[in-house]
Amino acid sequence: MTASELQPTSALQRSMPRKGCRNPFNSIKFFVLCHSILQLAQLLVSGYLKSSISTIERRYGFSSQKSGILASFNEVGNTLLIVFVSFFGSRVHRPRFIGGGALVASLAAVMMALPHFISGQYEYTTELKDDNAGLCQSESSFQTTLSNHSCTESQLRESNAQQGVFPLLLLGQLLLGIGCVPIQPFGISYIDDYASKRNSPLYLGILLAITSIGPAFGYMMGSFMLRFYVDIDKLSKDQIFLEQKDPRWIGAWWLGFVVAASFLFLTSLPYLLFPRQMPKEKAGNDATEPSAKEEKKLLPAQELTLSQFLKSFPNIALRTLRNPIYLLVVLAQVNLAALVAGLATFMAKFIERQFTQTASFSNIMIGGVSIPMAVLGIILGGILMRRLNISTKGAALMCTAAILLCVLTALPLLLLGCSTQTVAGIFPTKTNGTLACSAGCSCPTEAFNPVCGSDGVEFISSCHAGCATKILDNNNSKVLNYTDCRCIDVNGSYGYALPGTCGSSCKHFLFPFMVFSALTCFIASLSQTPSFMMILRTVKPEDKSFAVGVQYMLFRVLAFLPAPVLYGTAIDTTCIIWGQKCGRNTSCLYYNMDIFRQRFLGLQVLFGCGAFVCFLLSLLVLRHRAGQRSQQAGQSCTMVNGVKISDDHTTST
Ligand SMILES: *[C@@H]1O[C@H](CO)[C@@H](O)[C@H](O)[C@H]1NC(C)=O
Repeated sequence: MTASELQPTSALQRSMPRKGCRNPFNSIKFFVLCHSILQLAQLLVSGYLKSSISTIERRYGFSSQKSGILASFNEVGNTLLIVFVSFFGSRVHRPRFIGGGALVASLAAVMMALPHFISGQYEYTTELKDDNAGLCQSESSFQTTLSNHSCTESQLRESNAQQGVFPLLLLGQLLLGIGCVPIQPFGISYIDDYASKRNSPLYLGILLAITSIGPAFGYMMGSFMLRFYVDIDKLSKDQIFLEQKDPRWIGAWWLGFVVAASFLFLTSLPYLLFPRQMPKEKAGNDATEPSAKEEKKLLPAQELTLSQFLKSFPNIALRTLRNPIYLLVVLAQVNLAALVAGLATFMAKFIERQFTQTASFSNIMIGGVSIPMAVLGIILGGILMRRLNISTKGAALMCTAAILLCVLTALPLLLLGCSTQTVAGIFPTKTNGTLACSAGCSCPTEAFNPVCGSDGVEFISSCHAGCATKILDNNNSKVLNYTDCRCIDVNGSYGYALPGTCGSSCKHFLFPFMVFSALTCFIASLSQTPSFMMILRTVKPEDKSFAVGVQYMLFRVLAFLPAPVLYGTAIDTTCIIWGQKCGRNTSCLYYNMDIFRQRFLGLQVLFGCGAFVCFLLSLLVLRHRAGQRSQQAGQSCTMVNGVKISDDHTTST
């Protein structure tokens, strides 16, 4: 979505001689097809990143704040460059710019996968290396191999190499943001220029439908890829001992980037063959369009030089922002965008942790439930606007009511969860991981190999549970059972412990949680189309392009950039114990789930209330004005994601 979505038809447009040739690259229909696939590929990457972020976080030991920065970093390049795109508009060879952008994005996706190939194998605390590893070693016999918690040389090298992973991923994200800049705005303006007037809304509708549903494919791909083990390319099947349910499981997060990069590369190729200008599509009897009308719609920006344009931008932005309805609606949308950005980045992690689900399953919930419900809401909102011929005031009322209802349905979500399971020495009472019963076991301090005791208490490792023996699977020497655990007291004798987390006892809340959250998504999305309508109807026609540009700029600067970082920081504050590797903090091992839920969902309720207040104020302002301004009749049009897809009304009076 960008500044130039509503870019008027270009003055460069010439009527080209209509040859009867069948060259597909002279057909706008073929362009629309290519562009649909390209946008899908582009959204696949960005959706995929969000679906795999909790896995990347665990793999490279990031805090959630760092993953928030990573998730929002593509907006940096995007924000900086979008102004230029709206300036250059149709002055450049648009298909080539789109193709070039897609190639850059493809390269960026390769870069995102790169850390996997330059870093070594994923290492976790393992009990396979020697016979007694992971067990309580009573006296100091194995002191040298185990209690020595400084890391080995290879671990240290690996740990140092991982310091470079974050900058590399950031660079990939920056490049991805830059590559994606020309794709949508140039694509839309190109289609708008060369499609027949009759078909143009259809084409834009197709593109926007893909834009809305595209991220869902990213989450679906995430769900598929994260089922494979991260080192699937380096290990054979019987060398993989972790189970998907294990909290240490890392899925093949990089695989999706490789797939998406190839997809992007292939879809970028046709763009190198599309002409700079193509014959305008002939459709029915509107082949002769009044070009005078096109001239009238010209932006002032088209005639300015770049420096003039850059100078005039703040002025026009300020002029637009002085319109109170515009300001209020944009602020409301910024609140909603912040809500969605936080949700998109961390919802999977929340489901994973709160309901003890795999990353793969959490992503299915988002891609298969939340996003489709939101798309349905957007479509229904558009249909309602069109069918009921709702006025601006009616739109404000609809938005206010939808957001109020959305906040109300979000409130029960706060109750649908449970506390962190009991983890000895960590939760509910924290003793910094040392337990009296296993104090003499010389357990490695950085071990994270959770086991679930037969008394229902979780231990951070089998050693911390004081287990003295283990029972192995004969086939693959996987540990089945740790026995004689002195920290587990069952009727006066030592209990046993099974590998893996006990998990939260919350799985039964998952279904109602998903129902309520899908409902929330659906209701909130109803406000999307009406709120865009309010913006387009309240700004001056000549400022419309700028208004939409400024709107998306504010989305980026106030919502998409800071929101994931804010959410990540809030999530970090709820961590009980951080993982350690070679003395460095890695990602969080245990969260206080009650506080996690309250802060994560609380932020959403907060942004929801912010949006509600803004919509309510805009409604009051409109009421106040109702007597002074007569509403224009016949201003009905359908909007999806901010782009007009019905008949032109902007110049009618
Ligand atoms: C683990 O070992 C204990 C003690 O030998 C036994 O009672 C328990 O049934 C075993 N559990 C499993 C799942 O093998």
